[in-house]
Amino acid sequence: MHILLTGGCGFIGSNFVRLVLRERSDYSLTNLDVLTYSGNLENLADIEGDPRYRFVKGDINDRDLVNRLVAECDAVVHMAAESHVDRSIMDGRPFVLTNVLGTQTLLDAVRALRGKVKFLHVSTDEVYGDLPLDQPQVKFTETTPYAPSSPYSASKAASDLLVRAYQHTFGIPAIITNCSNNFGPYQFPEKVIPLFVTNLIEGKKVPLYGDGRNVRDWLHVEDHCEALLTVLEKADFTSGGTYNIGGNNERSNLDLTHAILKIMGKDESFIEPVTDRLGHDRRYAIDARKIEKELGWRPTRSAWPGALEQTVRWYVEHPDWWQRVKSGAYRDYYEQQYVKRR
Ligand SMILES: NC(=O)c1ccc[n+]([C@@H]2O[C@H](COP(=O)([O-])OP(=O)(O)OC[C@H]3O[C@@H](n4cnc5c(N)ncnc54)[C@H](O)[C@@H]3O)[C@@H](O)[C@H]2O)c1
Repeated sequence: MHILLTGGCGFIGSNFVRLVLRERSDYSLTNLDVLTYSGNLENLADIEGDPRYRFVKGDINDRDLVNRLVAECDAVVHMAAESHVDRSIMDGRPFVLTNVLGTQTLLDAVRALRGKVKFLHVSTDEVYGDLPLDQPQVKFTETTPYAPSSPYSASKAASDLLVRAYQHTFGIPAIITNCSNNFGPYQFPEKVIPLFVTNLIEGKKVPLYGDGRNVRDWLHVEDHCEALLTVLEKADFTSGGTYNIGGNNERSNLDLTHAILKIMGKDESFIEPVTDRLGHDRRYAIDARKIEKELGWRPTRSAWPGALEQTVRWYVEHPDWWQRVKSGAYRDYYEQQYVKRR
């Protein structure tokens, strides 16, 4: 199978590339990524020379390029996105351009191939809005109505609805996955876990939003990538539909912060309460029984606190990686590796 992966230089994408090359010797990948601030070619520096892997620098809104690359593949795994809620609160426009219009550009390319190419749309549980803190039994299912609350989740919800509409109207073979919060190696250090760990290594405090009671359902990134591979290989794309993916691992931000402080040998004086995010969703929790029952997937790498300890250790042991991200030096890599070699 030849996969066209969009956004493969990001956090989940780079973990997906590594997993596929490691576990599927007969698969190859083209990674289409425009390299925004969160796209980091250094995430994949070690596999650059693999003959089963190709990087193409480009925008998913570039119709000609997308048409050409989609025609060469058997399946599109679409991850490219503007992905940071706080950035969407500062400026929502890039979110609509990439997440909505970019998805539509890909869908048009898939549609033109009349059923030859599968489309796996990687989305988020945030499209469902949020859940009450005092009803732990209530979780998001695949039929929970969409109620996005941030410009980020609204743009992802719009892209999901476009995928559903293309599936329904044109019969394109498409599946949507809605996943909970991921953690693991290579996550951009403005997201909570790498931000907190790297701040603590630098002797700085960790900024905790509001009262810290907001709850997230944490899943290890490799569990997510394995679920995506399972969907790609086992789901019925002709009928379409949605799979929720989650870790059954709900933690409040305050509990997460305490766990990180403990692993790093720091006390509570390193917590710096900051004004809450605007419209901050209280709780996300995924009911992932459908993917388990129909496709036999369940998480194997997300168990707490071991998986968190392992992730913290990865950042502690890779200071070169995150220091280059925090200083912005990672952005020179493309220039050095590709442009200067022309
Ligand atoms: N991180 C999570 O916890 C999480 C959870 C559920 C779903 N998701 C979804 O998974 C996907 C990947 O998330 P992530 O955390 O790896 O994001 P990320 O921000 O780390 O990576 C996004 C990648 O997309 C690329 N990109 C952005 N705009 C592009 C464009 N116009 N054309 C081509 N490439 C472009 C970026 O350069 C980057 O490499 C997203 O669609 C996100 O909505 C993320």
